[in-house]
Amino acid sequence: MFDFRPADDCPKPEAYRQLVDAADALTSGERDAVANMANIAALLWDFLPDLNWAGFYRVVEGELVLGPFIGRPACIRIAIGSGVCGAAAATGETLLVEDVHAFPGHIACDAVTNSELVVPVVFGGEVIAVIDLDSPAAARFDLEDQAGIERLASVIANRI
Ligand code: SME
Repeated sequence: MFDFRPADDCPKPEAYRQLVDAADALTSGERDAVANMANIAALLWDFLPDLNWAGFYRVVEGELVLGPFIGRPACIRIAIGSGVCGAAAATGETLLVEDVHAFPGHIACDAVTNSELVVPVVFGGEVIAVIDLDSPAAARFDLEDQAGIERLASVIANRI
């Protein structure tokens, strides 16, 4: 049994340290990308409060394709450049969106989503996937979340 969840009063930077360590431990030595993304989606769900969706889109033949996630069923294919995920994949830069309704071209997979954090996963100089987190709370994500998920993306980049 794995139980990596942080204590309820754990400060956010420490929770992210634990999340990254847990992701490292769970994926180290495992070469199956789907298994690794599935466990990381589960960790994100366990560690981060107030989410309605947590998971991956992978770059496959020039578009984003839905990967392992937790949440409601989502759009399967997203063009690079479209929506928050496609925009982050196009630039290779994180997008921290406080209000998705104000983001031009936001793709609403779940009507309850109000804020979103999308972090590209870069390997060999190429964006190979994005990590997408959605929340029903307005402005749910801040720079500590961005730094934590970017660190996660760099640790798992050669394992997905
Ligand atoms: N909102 C995303 C689409 C993916 S779902 O949120 C899971 C976007 O605008 O790219």
